[in-house]
Amino acid sequence: MNRSLLLKLVTILVGILMNTNQSVCAASANSITVTPFGKTSSGREVDLYTLENKQGMKVSIMTYGATVVDVIVPDRNGNLGDVSLGFDTFQPYLTKSPYFGAIVGRYGNRIANGRFTLDGKTYQLATNDGPNHLHGGVKGFDKRLWTAEIVRSSSNSVRFTLVSPNGQEGYPGTLHLAVTYTLTDDNALKISYEATTDAPTIVNVTNHTYFNLAGAGNGSILGHELKLGAAHFTPVNSVLIPTGEIKSVKGTPMDFRKPELIGKRIKEVGGNPIGYDHNWVLDKKLLPGLKSAAEVYEPTTGRVMEVLTDQPGIQFYSGNFLDGTIKGKGGKVYDQYDGFCLETQHFPDSPNEPGFPSTVLRPGEVFKSTTIYRFSIR
Ligand code: BGC
Repeated sequence: MNRSLLLKLVTILVGILMNTNQSVCAASANSITVTPFGKTSSGREVDLYTLENKQGMKVSIMTYGATVVDVIVPDRNGNLGDVSLGFDTFQPYLTKSPYFGAIVGRYGNRIANGRFTLDGKTYQLATNDGPNHLHGGVKGFDKRLWTAEIVRSSSNSVRFTLVSPNGQEGYPGTLHLAVTYTLTDDNALKISYEATTDAPTIVNVTNHTYFNLAGAGNGSILGHELKLGAAHFTPVNSVLIPTGEIKSVKGTPMDFRKPELIGKRIKEVGGNPIGYDHNWVLDKKLLPGLKSAAEVYEPTTGRVMEVLTDQPGIQFYSGNFLDGTIKGKGGKVYDQYDGFCLETQHFPDSPNEPGFPSTVLRPGEVFKSTTIYRFSIR
């Protein structure tokens, strides 16, 4: 039996299983479909998993990079639109994607000089951002082919797994990682991470989706309103490595404790290129668990995206490095500030900053984390 026939069969079987669920839990139109999306440079097949909920929201994730390819949500008039930047086909993801939608790791964001010391031993990681290590190195988790499996115990989940061997990109310890995407009926995309190791290592995984709530390719995000649950941020040096300071946002353009237009004070942020590319220290709540980290509102469509997480930080990146050279979905050009990322995470360069929360994972421990992107309209 050929491969596409097999995938169609899987889709039909999943449909039948979902229908079985429907008769149990009233009228649900959840579905998961699997389609071939392309081939890696070594000829390995890449599949696209599309989750749909009963409100018609759809999220597609491919096995390359466990990458979110589409996030299709209604606006205030009920019109569906894709709010995630990316490409219509697989090939450009191989050659020109600035981490669109991908899972990044083993360590998301930067490690100064790609070097850190753990238990007295110094490790040199691959450097791929000037002298620094960025998003897992030359071939991070975003450039790996993951194994996908539909989660039978859930109505709308796909679990992606990856084994990252000892020494890959310089990291110690073989890491087993699972990332489960769940689409709920209240239009939330839940991302759950679980990792174990066989030797002490460092872990900081996140999702790197670029959003534009007016629709991908429909202009700049400077008119979006942002609220962050953070009274502090971590200032950076000229190559975006934290200085180690945890600074109050008060009186600075980093103050999003009350909703503010992203573009309002962006020029004052500085940087080269100018814009937001910083980690905010999420306010601690008395209760453990998921906290509301961010909320973004787009006034013309009425779309709202809320981010909830159990992570200590969030990287708000305003798409500063987009420069009009990428043509994305529908042939639309992505210019500077045409998308933003809200990457829930541990702070950049934590392995070299004793004052930051630890990112060390040891054998016998299980790293677990959850982030939710929830969509609604106003
Ligand atoms: C980083 C940016 C980087 C971008 C890559 C963000 O997470 O903070 O500095 O350029 O990823 O697309």
